[in-house]
Amino acid sequence: MAQFPEHFRWGAGTYSYQVEGAANEDGRGESIWDRFCSIPGTILNNDTGLVACDHYHRYPEDIRIMQELGIHLYNFSIAWPRIVPTGRGKVNPRGFDFYDRLVDGLLEAGIEPYATLYHWDLPQALQDELGGWQSRETAYAFAEYVDIVSRHFKGRIHNWLTLNEPAVTAFEGHEDGIHAPGIKDARIAWQTSHHFLLAHGLAVPILRANGDEQTRVGITLNFTQIDPATQSPEDQAAARFLDGKLHRWFLDPLFRGEYPADVLSQLGELAPKTEPGDLEIIARPLDFLGANYYTRSLVTHSPTGSLSDFGSVRAEGSEYTEMDWEVHPRGIYTMLVRLHREYHVPQVYIVENGAAFADTVSEDGRVDDPRRIHYLREHLLQVHAAIAEGVPLAGYSVWSLMDNFEWSLGYSKRFGITYIDYPTQKRILKASGYWYRDVIAANGLS
Ligand code: FCB
Repeated sequence: MAQFPEHFRWGAGTYSYQVEGAANEDGRGESIWDRFCSIPGTILNNDTGLVACDHYHRYPEDIRIMQELGIHLYNFSIAWPRIVPTGRGKVNPRGFDFYDRLVDGLLEAGIEPYATLYHWDLPQALQDELGGWQSRETAYAFAEYVDIVSRHFKGRIHNWLTLNEPAVTAFEGHEDGIHAPGIKDARIAWQTSHHFLLAHGLAVPILRANGDEQTRVGITLNFTQIDPATQSPEDQAAARFLDGKLHRWFLDPLFRGEYPADVLSQLGELAPKTEPGDLEIIARPLDFLGANYYTRSLVTHSPTGSLSDFGSVRAEGSEYTEMDWEVHPRGIYTMLVRLHREYHVPQVYIVENGAAFADTVSEDGRVDDPRRIHYLREHLLQVHAAIAEGVPLAGYSVWSLMDNFEWSLGYSKRFGITYIDYPTQKRILKASGYWYRDVIAANGLS
């Protein structure tokens, strides 16, 4: 029996654009994801977040599912365009109504809200007026929005995450162009990475000032185990650079107050412009780090020597999910131990971990997903091993509470422990959901 510590917190997550729908209701402004999805051919099957899981209207049922699971915390995000539709200036009071109902419903159900302030749905107006995250001003606009939100929820939301996965939104949104706003320019991408970190740092003291003694502030970063495909010096160098780009580029400024020197020197003129004092702002102490983990990548060097086009190979004999992501449970252990030993993070939460499989509903209305149970089980055993190593891990949240809009892959990928039948919006707890409920009840797994 792998027994978890007494006060270990179990959770599940969703994020605004992926589940809410109601894109044009109650004064919500346009986000860069609305605009991006409206371009034909951008998203698989031309899917959009217009309706999604209709969580905006069905949240009471979703809270009941959370209660049935017995989760202690719910990770969700607040959509900036609902609160300040044009990004800066006029606040939309109706934008708060949904989150008020949601947060109050959670609190009544005894579930702690863990709110992320930015999960990629930037108000389109800021993209149009400022160039979005290319501009330093967007970081200051974010700070204003954070001030508005944190004043509003004082005493009700105690756990704040400033940003989700800045590496993904910086590079997939601005270098690869497969996420909104669809820019393909490495220099811009690196510049946005700095502005994301600056935005985070500006938000930290605001959240503390508007909070109380229970307020806790963190940020969520994503981690992939990055290994070289071969032991050739070129592939090893590629793996080191990618680990630098996706992990150390964010960890080092946050926890050491500096950008990693090796990455900086490789970047040359791609390096972002910074101002004196920025790194002090970015490195303000945090209460916890949110960490996401899904997979491993075996990387090959770029044939052209460019810092953008690395390749990868499949790991022979490994299982792959519907995302074509390798199932590599040991990586979550390696990540946690690294965060503890190399970065001395005060506390860690696993904010996302999970897998997409091609789930179907059986004739008797059940969804059996043994591969997801296996995935979660193997990862939780590694998480347990990391706690035994002394990692200060306070909680684990599964991605996701329900199937949802998986960005450029639309609704084709199902990550939920609850199945969504999109035409009817019917929710069906999958076998993995019942399994997770039992893990939570036992606070461990056999
Ligand atoms: C993470 C995102 C989350 C979800 C999972 C599969 O990178 O934060 O929204 O799409 O991947």
